[in-house]
Amino acid sequence: MTAPEREHLADAGYRRLDPRGSAQAGGASRAWWDANAREYESEHGAFLGDADLCWGPEGLREQDARLLGPAGALRGARVLEIGCGAAQGARWAAGAGASAVGTDVSAGMLDAARRADDRTGTSVPLVQADARALPFAAGSFDVAFTAYGAIPFVPDADAIHREVARVLRDGGRWVFSVTHPVRWAFPDDPGPGGLTVTRSYFDRRPYVELGDSGDVLYAEFHRTLGDHVRDVVGAGFRLLDLVEPEWPDGHDEVWGGWSAERGAVLPGTAIFVCELR
Ligand SMILES: C[S@@+](CC[C@H](N)C(=O)[O-])C[C@H]1O[C@@H](n2cnc3c(N)ncnc32)[C@H](O)[C@@H]1O
Repeated sequence: MTAPEREHLADAGYRRLDPRGSAQAGGASRAWWDANAREYESEHGAFLGDADLCWGPEGLREQDARLLGPAGALRGARVLEIGCGAAQGARWAAGAGASAVGTDVSAGMLDAARRADDRTGTSVPLVQADARALPFAAGSFDVAFTAYGAIPFVPDADAIHREVARVLRDGGRWVFSVTHPVRWAFPDDPGPGGLTVTRSYFDRRPYVELGDSGDVLYAEFHRTLGDHVRDVVGAGFRLLDLVEPEWPDGHDEVWGGWSAERGAVLPGTAIFVCELR
């Protein structure tokens, strides 16, 4: 995690945010992803692929996992990707016959999506939007998903789940992946240093980077497994499955704090598969 160049990083750590700081966190996320979009693309683009839905650093692909529905289920479906980044997942869904839309709060990340459109020759409609205020009518989609998008970067993830529930039709499917919550208790270190608990799993104070002015430059929020379950159930979803992908033998990707060494003993990703009641 590094601060954007626009303001000098003055302080970083776990701290409670006051209401002003919490309100800033959403806008800070947009600026942070704008500033870091090129770096994210060059570090992770090849692993993710331009038209593939990869649920996390373990490399679980939707082609194999089928969490959005069985093979063929996306043909003709209206599919929404939130926090889409370069919209690799929406592009994959379009290839599976869906009418797919990618949305993200960051213009920089959507620029990366346009570059991937050009490389692949498959354009997906892209809409700049905060996942807490989606510019779509109620019941517009059959399926919504995100791989690590939006949810960790807002203090009020319940607002995202409610908004997704609003734009899905009855019985619609909502699948999202996040960092597995148990990782919060460990240092974000891919080596042996990341194997020892140093913090409480129950400490909900976000990780926050502050600039010289005291403004929030970056924030990442922790929710326990129970918090996530309460959020989705409170928004009107049934939880169908909680997938914890295991680190595959021979997989040597290192992505931030994710690695084979830690993946052998600790879950790294949690994927929630939900259906609107
Ligand atoms: C870790 S990236 C994941 C991108 C993509 N899903 C992937 O797998 O590469 C997180 C994404 O969430 C987006 N994001 C952060 N806060 C958001 C918000 N409030 N609403 C929508 N998108 C948001 C960021 O701009 C960024 O593109």
